[in-house]
Amino acid sequence: ARAADNKGSAFNFSEVEAGVDDKHHLAEGYDADILLRWGDAVLSGAPAFDPTKQTADAQSKQFGYNNDYVGFIPLDGSSEHGLLVVNHEYTNPHLMFAGLVQVVDGKIKQGALSKEQVDVEMAAHGGTVVEIRKTGGKWQVVTDGKYNRRITANTPMEITGPAAGNDRLKTSADATGTRAIGTINNCAGGVTPWGTYIMAEENFHGYFSGALPEGHKEAANYKRYGVPEGAYEWANFYDRFDLSKEPNEPNRFGWIVEVDVMDPTAAPKKRTALGRTKHEGAESIVAKNGKVVFYLGDDERFDYVYKFVTSAAFNPNDRAANMNLLDSGTLHVAKFNEDGTMQWLPMVFGEGPLTAENGFTSQADVLIECRRAGDALGATKMDRPEDVQPNGVNGKVYVMLTNNTRRKADQVDAANPRAENAFGHIIEISENDGDFTATSGKWEVLLKCGDPSVAAVGATFSTETTKNGWFGMPDNCAVDAAGRLWVSTDGNNNKATGRTDGLWAVDTEGAARATSKLFFRVPVGAEMCGPLFTPDDETAFVAVQHPGDGGEDWSGHGRPSYYEDLSTRWPDFKSDMPVRPAVVAITKAGGGKIAV
Ligand code: FEO
Ligand code: CA
Ligand code: CA
Ligand code: CA
Repeated sequence: ARAADNKGSAFNFSEVEAGVDDKHHLAEGYDADILLRWGDAVLSGAPAFDPTKQTADAQSKQFGYNNDYVGFIPLDGSSEHGLLVVNHEYTNPHLMFAGLVQVVDGKIKQGALSKEQVDVEMAAHGGTVVEIRKTGGKWQVVTDGKYNRRITANTPMEITGPAAGNDRLKTSADATGTRAIGTINNCAGGVTPWGTYIMAEENFHGYFSGALPEGHKEAANYKRYGVPEGAYEWANFYDRFDLSKEPNEPNRFGWIVEVDVMDPTAAPKKRTALGRTKHEGAESIVAKNGKVVFYLGDDERFDYVYKFVTSAAFNPNDRAANMNLLDSGTLHVAKFNEDGTMQWLPMVFGEGPLTAENGFTSQADVLIECRRAGDALGATKMDRPEDVQPNGVNGKVYVMLTNNTRRKADQVDAANPRAENAFGHIIEISENDGDFTATSGKWEVLLKCGDPSVAAVGATFSTETTKNGWFGMPDNCAVDAAGRLWVSTDGNNNKATGRTDGLWAVDTEGAARATSKLFFRVPVGAEMCGPLFTPDDETAFVAVQHPGDGGEDWSGHGRPSYYEDLSTRWPDFKSDMPVRPAVVAITKAGGGKIAV
């Protein structure tokens, strides 16, 4: 039975009160159990986590830092036994290494990292594949699971698809342009219909330092991607992150990476057919004709939404037949028209403006300079596209647009309707004839985010939405088995406003459309990532990223310095243990489906 005040909402739970403190908070009647923390053992033989004795060798066997995307691949079709796949997006050395940051006279000073610390950082990046099992209603990690794996910034990878072997991908370590080392800044991702794990490489520009040789042919390409940003110190110890020494290395990042979780020895594959951008994620769905459609956001102000349609159909009866589906297909970029229609423009070398006259000499060029190809095609410049999630129940697609405070009043369009868009919005796409492979469709704004009690913000939450239920900065999202939309946020964590990031349940259907309720909120300093529901809707996995992060300061340094918020020691609450990012398993007390 639904609560009497639900007004047709598809969600039934008592919402959490918004606020900010050192703990996480969850709707009444649910349990939130810490499943995996940074440093927990993932491989057998991993040493117990000791923050005072961190080594790359230990870290490469332990759960990595800053858990972001969470996926679940059932084993034997079970919702209670499977492989949890988790991205480790980035590292926060100021939270990882005690004593690195000193605050002198209120000014922050962050010391240089040693090679050993950089090596720990590199091992803390990438992803984790780990077997988990629910016993007596509680999830446990199977630390000796035969599929368990850590993927890091040093894991050997293959480069496949149309750009593989291109001269622009060749380096002194790899004259073939087909063998990359490692993956970095994996934000969101996906699980394919054939049960592989997708890691999306996002802000790769931060890892590169140094200057390209004068007049180098990649200069315009790198400028479009903000390379190099120099936020990390890896180039001090590894030449491949120094543009002056290895000018093509940045072309080997910014890809979609596919991992065969059933073979822990298999090299992950960078699938160039899906383009090179700052990929947020790659969520997919099987279309009516059996082809598989991947939706991709490029998380940058004024960048684009993409979709990739495989050439061949998915074969549900033969896993092996699907293992190279991601090497051939058509990438499209979205154009949102003012009248609520849209086109998906194919990004095919030789078609339209994607020709030699415009500097594209092959499909590899189109994919390596995916953003410039989108520019040439006249795609719509969006307010930071994050997760893009197809909904197989209602046939729609949801686009999280996190914010864009740099959009000027004369740059507003129907799909990005607010100048200085501080709180972001969500677009709902209806593909023509409900066909996910369609090259045209319709769209509307589901929600303009922000505080509805401040008229100037222009938020469009329903009037049923309480003071706890509104949010800004949508980022990751999930659709559960019932077809309900759940949105997690990045950027609401603010002591001044008294709110944190969290997980919100957002109605999309009927009279309750655009009603939002707060289900879970994170401790101070953290961002909410994940979320992911098991196929039985009885567990929601959420990822608490960078708890205790106190903000950054770029003044007076070539690199940023960061503050630590010492008011939380989540999740251990021990004085000798640092804050630790962690994945949390949420279940209903006593069992059952969530929020029904
Ligand atoms: Fe890593 Fe776009 O959030
Ligand atoms: Ca993030
Ligand atoms: Ca994100
Ligand atoms: Ca974000």
